[in-house]
Amino acid sequence: MTLPEKVRIVEVGPRDGLQNEAAILSIDARAQLIRLLAKAGLTRIEAGSFVSSKSVPQMAASGEVLARLASGTGARLSVLAANLVGLEAALAAGAKEIAVFASATETFSRSNLNCSIDESLDRFAHVAGAARRRGVVVRGYVSCVLGCPYEGKVSPARVAEIAGRLREMGCYEISLGDTIGVGTPLVARNLVEVVSRETPIESLAVHFHDTYGQALANIFSCLEAGVSVVDSSVAGLGGCPHAPGAAGNVATEDLVYMLDGMGIETGVDLDALLEAGAFICGELGRKPAGRVAQAFAARRN
Ligand code: HMG
Ligand code: MG
Repeated sequence: MTLPEKVRIVEVGPRDGLQNEAAILSIDARAQLIRLLAKAGLTRIEAGSFVSSKSVPQMAASGEVLARLASGTGARLSVLAANLVGLEAALAAGAKEIAVFASATETFSRSNLNCSIDESLDRFAHVAGAARRRGVVVRGYVSCVLGCPYEGKVSPARVAEIAGRLREMGCYEISLGDTIGVGTPLVARNLVEVVSRETPIESLAVHFHDTYGQALANIFSCLEAGVSVVDSSVAGLGGCPHAPGAAGNVATEDLVYMLDGMGIETGVDLDALLEAGAFICGELGRKPAGRVAQAFAARRN
């Protein structure tokens, strides 16, 4: 069995998590969450989205969140940019990294971006080109890689093709998103094997929502296949606005606990991470979704 010595965690709670919480948080609370996550040792954090605020009102004013953090957090912050309008706003707010996001199915693409997959890829190629010319690095997502809420099964070959297009447009890393959390370990590993025939495994990340409780098992299976970058969300926040019933991402606390237990380095301090989770759960008036945060809370009581 081969496992990586280190895993790079991309913390997506302040974006993927908060975008699907019912409460719309203050700019200060969003910025404070990011500070606490950086303090816990997370070096890559998705801080917000420059998308239509009609589509995702929770992410409005992401520029102001970045402005609050302008003096630096120690982490590399990234934001989603839906189009050139979003890119310009992100650049004006000082973003140094953006992410573009395509879907593996036509129906999800229409629902999330109001255009076909090809149209979205053409649009994102312009966004990525303009970003890179201005010194901004670009990450790519493919959504619905293991299933679509509208179309069901998704072909790994189709995911590989879209990941290849994202890489061609200059994305340095492509995150494979199980948006609705339907994947299971062998299917997830097979997907990584198929996609990595065209896109080097070093530039792949995995992004599992935990709807059916499979996320950690899927991650373990993908680590064995050679993946070493994993997205997760503090307190397991979130879901997907276009995928009713989908749970949040795997909780970062659960991921760190598992990796710590296997001796895999992440640079994240679990106690400080639990504090960040407690802070955001207090702001949202909810309990953490992850099991590790629940177990630590029970031990304290
Ligand atoms: P559209 O309606 O076709 O676009 O939406 P439009 O150009 O006609 O614009 C509609 C309105 O939005 C206009 O405002 C624009 O000005 C405004 P109005 O004139 O009606 O007042 N607008 C914007 N405002 C702010 N920033 C912008 C922007 N662009 C337009 N950048 C559009 C097309 C792409 C804009 C829309 O569908 C959209 O914003 N979609 C993004 C949805 C989104 O953020 N989804 C969640 C992220 S993806 C995800 O979570 C999956 C992931 O986690 C991986 C996984 O789990 O698989 C990444
Ligand atoms: Mg997601």
